Amino acid sequence: MANAMHLLHVMSHQSDTPQTIGSETRRRVWGYARPYRSKVAGFLAVVTASSLLGVVPPLLFREIIDGAIVTGDRDRLTVLGLLVVAAALAQAALAFVERWASATVGEGLIFDLRVALFDHVQRLPISFFTRTQTGALVSRLNNDVIGAQRALTGTLGTVVSNAITAATTLLTLFLLEWRVTLLAMVLLPLFILPARRVGRTVADITREGMNLNASMNVTMTERFNVSGAQLVKLFGRPSEETDGFARRAGRVRDIGIRNALFSRAFVIALTLLGATGTAIVYWVGGSLAISGSITIGTLASMGVLVAQLYGPLAQLTNARVDVMSAFVSFERVFEVLDAPNPVADSPDAQPLPAEATTGHLAFHDVSFRYPAADDTSVASLETDATPDEPGRIVLDGIDLTVGPGQMLAIVGPSGSGKSTLASLVPRLYDVTDGSITLDGHDLRTLFQEELRSRIGVVTQDPHLFHDTVGANLRYARPGATDADLDEACRAARILDVVRRLPDGYETVVGERGHRMSGGEKQRLAIARLLLKDPAVVILDEATSHLDTENEAIVQLALADALAGRTAVVIAHRLSTVVDADEIVVLDEGTIVERGRHSELRDAGGLYAELWEALVRGENGAEGGAGIGPDGP
Ligand SMILES: Nc1ncnc2c1ncn2[C@@H]1O[C@H](COP(=O)(O)OP(=O)(O)O)[C@@H](O)[C@H]1O
Ligand SMILES: [Mg+2]
Repeated sequence: MANAMHLLHVMSHQSDTPQTIGSETRRRVWGYARPYRSKVAGFLAVVTASSLLGVVPPLLFREIIDGAIVTGDRDRLTVLGLLVVAAALAQAALAFVERWASATVGEGLIFDLRVALFDHVQRLPISFFTRTQTGALVSRLNNDVIGAQRALTGTLGTVVSNAITAATTLLTLFLLEWRVTLLAMVLLPLFILPARRVGRTVADITREGMNLNASMNVTMTERFNVSGAQLVKLFGRPSEETDGFARRAGRVRDIGIRNALFSRAFVIALTLLGATGTAIVYWVGGSLAISGSITIGTLASMGVLVAQLYGPLAQLTNARVDVMSAFVSFERVFEVLDAPNPVADSPDAQPLPAEATTGHLAFHDVSFRYPAADDTSVASLETDATPDEPGRIVLDGIDLTVGPGQMLAIVGPSGSGKSTLASLVPRLYDVTDGSITLDGHDLRTLFQEELRSRIGVVTQDPHLFHDTVGANLRYARPGATDADLDEACRAARILDVVRRLPDGYETVVGERGHRMSGGEKQRLAIARLLLKDPAVVILDEATSHLDTENEAIVQLALADALAGRTAVVIAHRLSTVVDADEIVVLDEGTIVERGRHSELRDAGGLYAELWEALVRGENGAEGGAGIGPDGP
């Protein structure tokens, strides 16, 4: 490892531009390699043994010529010939062990990296995901990790083995005849100098190529999910889509060609160098042999060694380029691993007492603004990476208390901050000022997983995984029996529907539940909530997407689900909140009215206005007046 580290050190000193790989990145890569120290040591031992073996055959050739052919000793010739074969066999065996060791280390390291990345990303706050393009992120998790993998299993292994081979070969050459060797080497600097520049260019090209690949992925993931595909079809634009995609794919193609040309120019230059070097050895060495200062055996041996030297040198210089581009992948992976997580568990987080959650929820003078991009996201994963202003205040001075088992209703015009308020309870975001408590504990002092296990949320458009009905339900309670599922589905008024499905609980719901109707999906989400059995339930306009008939069934299911739980209900229709213990009217992020239905209705404020509109709507048009995104 020390050797490899030294090598990289030397390499990085050859190119000190801002575009090259920071020592920090290198340190982190080695940090990931640390658990594999013993395997790495074994690898280095095998590589060294194999490199030493590599100079044995050329030296045996020398003996064959000088010690057997010239003297006419046939027995010696046979023995030496067999020795050459034995050396080749031993080298073959070692090559296998070497590859095993490097692959185990490389793949293991990538495994660690991949799992760390997945773990980190899924714990990032929701604000990261609202800003990130899924395709770019997936590409980062796939292509870049594979790029890094290539670096370690292939490139880095060959770099080390080539370095050692080159060193031993060079040393042997010098010991055989240093003047000729020196002459054969004078051309090398001519090559190394441009190689540095090409290396940088290739690293840049690789970086650009990775970005283009990601942008191609973004198009595919956006268009090839059900909603995207539907939009493309409904607007009748498949040809434009293909053109746009072809433009991106075309740039990927062009950059691939440039990359290939640059890399190949490199190899060609080295091959020329090797040919010239070999010629010099035979030319100058030949005249030394004529004058008798070296033997023909030595000359032949040097010819083989020089040819053997340029191979590893060629790969080595080329590998430097590969290592550079591989480190680009590492940098891109680390960039995601470094994405800040402002909603993390505090180091002295407290567990909630096991059975004691009564569901007493309180907001104390809470203000909130959405975090700015720099605080939550990785710029290169966004389309529009311009840093934005810290958001404006979305909630201001909110004071609320909901007692155990009580129901708090939140109403207000669209954009007044209702959903935002609800998202603070399971800590999708942390409050900017003030605090929220559950049973008297500040949410920030609790473990997030534990907090979230006590809170159930149903939104307008609940998400289902592309999996079976049963698996989606058990996501809330992995150990649930079929009887548990039946019970939850019955309470959620979905049991009949599930029973009518072709495979019952084993039926796959389709991507994001697209094979279910809106009402069915909503009731499945309620069944899932019941299985979770949370102390606090939050409904964010849970029925606003439904038609009247479906809404009635879902309302029934919800009434059961809320019984005995603390509830925060964001209401689309005022008729659903008349029974609330308290109604809070939000407007532009502040509470403008609060009280019970009858008080508010008679108070003549915003609530009365909304109520008026509702009553008018129900007497007039079908469906009633909505208060929410589609409301007046
Ligand atoms: N992820 C977000 N980032 C920045 N601003 C947001 C985000 N989500 C909502 N907002 C803004 O916060 C305000 C309140 O939104 P929201 O809570 O969704 O309102 P409501 O649910 O009452 O319709 C709106 O002005 C909206 O534009
Ligand atoms: Mg909303």
